[in-house]
Amino acid sequence: MPQASDLKRLADDAVKEIAAAADDAALEAARVRYLSRKDGLVTAATHAIGSLPNAEKPAYGQAINEAKRRIEESLASRASELATGRIEKSLGEADDLTLPPRRVRLGRLHPISRTIREITRVLATMGFEAVEGPEVEFDYYNFEALNIPRDHPARDKFNTLWIGNPKGDDPAKPVLLRTHTSPMQIRIMEQRKPPVRVVVPGRCYRFEATDATHESIFFQYEGLAIDEQLSMADLKGVLYSFARQLFGGDRKVRFRPDYFPFTEPSAEIAFDCFVCDGAGTTNAGRCPTCAGSGWIEAAGCGMVHPEALRRVGYDPARHQGFAFGGGVERLAMLLTGTPDIRLFHENDLRYLESV
Ligand code: FA5
Repeated sequence: MPQASDLKRLADDAVKEIAAAADDAALEAARVRYLSRKDGLVTAATHAIGSLPNAEKPAYGQAINEAKRRIEESLASRASELATGRIEKSLGEADDLTLPPRRVRLGRLHPISRTIREITRVLATMGFEAVEGPEVEFDYYNFEALNIPRDHPARDKFNTLWIGNPKGDDPAKPVLLRTHTSPMQIRIMEQRKPPVRVVVPGRCYRFEATDATHESIFFQYEGLAIDEQLSMADLKGVLYSFARQLFGGDRKVRFRPDYFPFTEPSAEIAFDCFVCDGAGTTNAGRCPTCAGSGWIEAAGCGMVHPEALRRVGYDPARHQGFAFGGGVERLAMLLTGTPDIRLFHENDLRYLESV
């Protein structure tokens, strides 16, 4: 038969155990052992009340309450002792105020991010709104809608990284990592009515061997303007103004005919090489940065092909447009005097913090 004296002994044991608890974990273990609602020793004793004659129940009940009160009190008092001990210990380890402060390393933007901001800032002064597009793209936008059907030789120029179609490998809808930002020309024209003036910076991917001016993952910026009576002269004006605002009068600009299936006519813009000053050679021989040409090819451009305009429902008799697509890294190289594109993505902070 359970007795009130059992509870006193239980509480005595608990108080001793709690006073000896060395840390919070031991204290919590003691609390669970005695007071856990599920299987604590005091809870078990409470259940035993049912087996007592009615006359003994009140005294036993009182003993339970008394045991609980003593245990809870000693838990609280030990918890406060442990907390005080912790504070005293940390005061004993006070900081040495004579130590020099830790150096704060200020973060900064990556030169590629800075260049993207500079490109979009300059183009914003000419009314171009910055937008972004998907890096994983449908064959349709990357090629087909840009007049590059499946058997077109221009596909060879874009060493493409194909990926499985996440929507179920539909062979009719091949998916790739976009090889240029030009697919956004089509997406934007599908979404908007003229006039349009946007710049799209973003990553592109090509299955490409790297050298001083080529990476397999690199950034482009795509400019697109659609309006009435736009001509090649407007394109040239925008690109010359762009170059002047970025470089001042320092760089020579070369503008010459080129071919792209989605622009007609097409052109290429290049800047004279800052390493050899356009000579193509340095004291050490052939200039590695411009591969001896004296020029760094910066962008392809041209008047948007009437077929592309028709495809998105524009009337080429009324609306014309120009587009340009350039390499961000190539501009960053010129702006920061970086002779090799790979220095940007190797992520050696010693270099990145110096430019
Ligand atoms: C294109 O990608 C066309 N989409 C450009 C265009 C846009 C033409 C709009 C007409 C109208 P291209 O493959 O030449 O063209 O690349 C354009 C620029 O991207 C190059 O001038 C170069 O600056 C940069 N570029 C191309 N490939 C790489 C690479 N592997 N690494 C770094 N930059 C690159």
